[in-house]
Amino acid sequence: MSDKIFLNDILFDAEEAKVSVFDRGYLFSDGIYELIPYFNGKPFLFDEHYKRLERSLKMIDIENPFSRDEWADKINNLLKTCIYKNFSLYIQISRGVPSDLEDGIYREHAASKKYIPSVLMFYSENKGFPKKKPNEEKAIIMEDKRWLQCDVKSISLLYNAYAKTLAHRENAYETILIRDGNVTEGCSSNVFIVKENVIKTCPKSNLILPGISRTYIIDNLIKSTEYELIEKEFSLEELESADEIFVTNSTQCIVSINKLNDNLIGTGTCGKITEEIFSQFIKSIN
Ligand code: PDD
Repeated sequence: MSDKIFLNDILFDAEEAKVSVFDRGYLFSDGIYELIPYFNGKPFLFDEHYKRLERSLKMIDIENPFSRDEWADKINNLLKTCIYKNFSLYIQISRGVPSDLEDGIYREHAASKKYIPSVLMFYSENKGFPKKKPNEEKAIIMEDKRWLQCDVKSISLLYNAYAKTLAHRENAYETILIRDGNVTEGCSSNVFIVKENVIKTCPKSNLILPGISRTYIIDNLIKSTEYELIEKEFSLEELESADEIFVTNSTQCIVSINKLNDNLIGTGTCGKITEEIFSQFIKSIN
């Protein structure tokens, strides 16, 4: 495998990169991440992703280890080794390893020492892009039992990963999460429903990750159609009786949810409005 990984300013072969067991990312999930899609070798909405990365760092009080220009240089160096045209760039910053371990204190909940942040970056090919039609996938439903700061892109994804694993076992792509009877988001996506030409999605708050694809689709695609867009809480019942459901994220763009548990949504195939928004999305990235 020729893929390279950036770890703390060194480019390693993918299998060779190693982190310290005392890294707070490893011990406490004390870190954040970002995932930036590249289409045809070009970053898509880089500034928006970078801003969210800065915001996540700020929210958990980790200093950005690099300036914007330094990030650009480091990303360019890594991507010189990337042979793919369509890929995702994963960036992770953890609070890192205590600069002093001589006192024998290897693990303490409070981040009371000086730390050297760990910066990890790697790329993964987005196979099957560009697509002609959105994937049609099943979703399952679970209660949203995550913490209440879902707007931080935290590496602490225990519940998301658990719920997504249960989805995988049921041949589903996503688990849609419900808090107090309302849909929040998917484990790795934002959720939209369509009912009689009205499109609804949960508003931005601490209960969801403010998806970059979500904002782009609302501001640049839906607002130029004749369809009404409402950013408002919607219930599990509205989800179940929707004409169309689609979910959005940076790796898959737009995925049509045609089955919820064992029930078909609408006609059981990708709806017309989802398809329309998807084809505009594909046009805009070409
Ligand atoms: N996840 N909500 C959650 C919980 C997510 O994890 C993601 C993305 C989104 C969509 O955000 P965006 O449009 O910015 O990708 C919403 C990425 C893809 C991941 O964890 O790999």
